[in-house]
Amino acid sequence: MDDLIYFDNAATSFPKPEIVYEFMDTFYRRAGVSPGRSGYDIGLEAGQLLEETRCLLTRYFNGNSPERLVFSANSTDALNLAISGMVKPGGHVITTTLEHNAVLRPLYHLSRYNGVDVDYIPFDGNGFVNPEDFKSRFRSDTCLVVVNHASNVIGTIQPLKEIGRLCRQYEVPFLVDASQTAGKIPIDVQDLNIDVVAFTGHKSLMGPTGVGGLYVRNPVIIRHSRAGGTGVKSAARHHLEEYPYRLEYGTLNILGIAGLNAGFKWLLERSMHSVHQHETHLISRLAQALGQIDRVTTYCANRLEDHIGVLSFNVNGFEAASTGTLLDGEYNIACRTGLHCAPLVHECLKTDKIHGTVRVGVGPFNTAAQVDQMVKAVREIASLYGKP
Ligand SMILES: Cc1ncc(COP(=O)(O)O)c(C=O)c1O
Repeated sequence: MDDLIYFDNAATSFPKPEIVYEFMDTFYRRAGVSPGRSGYDIGLEAGQLLEETRCLLTRYFNGNSPERLVFSANSTDALNLAISGMVKPGGHVITTTLEHNAVLRPLYHLSRYNGVDVDYIPFDGNGFVNPEDFKSRFRSDTCLVVVNHASNVIGTIQPLKEIGRLCRQYEVPFLVDASQTAGKIPIDVQDLNIDVVAFTGHKSLMGPTGVGGLYVRNPVIIRHSRAGGTGVKSAARHHLEEYPYRLEYGTLNILGIAGLNAGFKWLLERSMHSVHQHETHLISRLAQALGQIDRVTTYCANRLEDHIGVLSFNVNGFEAASTGTLLDGEYNIACRTGLHCAPLVHECLKTDKIHGTVRVGVGPFNTAAQVDQMVKAVREIASLYGKP
C-alpha cells in the first residue's frame, strides 16, 4: 500500500533500505552456504561476510575482541543466553521497571525455578531511572545488573555510564538491552562501563528479522546453557569454551547476517547521527503538536533531549486499541497499541488499567508531512469523543 504511513519502527524497521533486499538476494543466491565451516570458495565467502559483520559491530560497540561478538536469533535469544549464563541460582539481580519481557520473563523464570531474587528500580516522572537508586540495592550475592538502554514504550535513554560505574565499584557484571538503541546512538562499552550488550538486527540496525546477538567484553564470563554443533573441533565431547563458538549453536543465519551487514553499512554511509537527529526531530514535532490537542495525553514527553524516536500517547476516553483501529482503518496509519511487552512501565504510568498506549516509532523513511497527517488524524479522533 503506497500511501501507508508506517509508524511501528520500534517493533521492526520497515521498509528496509533497498540495498538490504538486493544484497540478501544476490548474496544468498551466490554464496548462501554454511559459513566458515569448509574450504570451498563460496564457503569461504560466506565466512568472510560473517567475520566482516562481527568486526563492523565490534567496532560500533568499541570492543576489541571481534570473536566476542556472537550472533543469535534476536535480542530475546541473546538476553536469554546472557541472563541464564550469568545469574547464579539463589542469587540477586538488579533491574528496572522499564524492562521488556525479553528481560523480565527470563528473570521471572529464574525466580520461580532457581530462587533468584530480583529488585526493580522504578523510573521518575520523566521516564528515567536514577543511578543513586541502585546504590542501596547492591548485596554480596548480587550477580547481575540488567538495564534497558532506551524504553520501547516511552523512548527515554537511561544513564548507563553512572550505573555501569557503580557496577564496577561493586564488581557486578552489567548487561544492557540495546534493542532500541543499537543503530540509533553510539554504544561504547568501554566508555559506558558495559560488560555485555544485547542487540537485535531488525530494528535500527536496518537488517531483517531473525538475527541479533551479544558483545561480551573480555574477561566477562557467560556460562553456556546450550550445546551443539560449532563446525570446528567436532571430536570434542563438550561444547567449546572459546568464543565465538561458546555462545553460537548450529548453523548461523547467514541470510540474516548478510542483510544486517548491508543495513548497517547503509546506516553508516548515511550517518547514524543524522538518522537519529531526523527521528528525534520528527518525534519532537509530534509531541509538541499532540500536546496541544485537548483530550490527548502523552507520556514522559516533556524532556525530549534524551529520547529516541518513540512516543506513547492516548486519546482520553478511548482505549489505545480503539485509537489504533481508527488510525489504521480510517487513516492508513500503522501504530502499535497495548502494553508493548513492557507491563511494568504501564503499571507505573497507570496505563495498565486502560490497556496500554498508542505507540509511535519513527524511522529513517518517515517525513514531517506524515507526522502532520498523524496529528490531523488524532485531532479528528479526539473530536469524536462523546459523539454517538
Ligand atoms: C527494549 C526491547 N528489548 C527486547 C526486545 C526484543 O527484541 P526481539 O523481538 O528482536 O528479540 C525489544 C523488541 O521489541 C525491545 O524493544
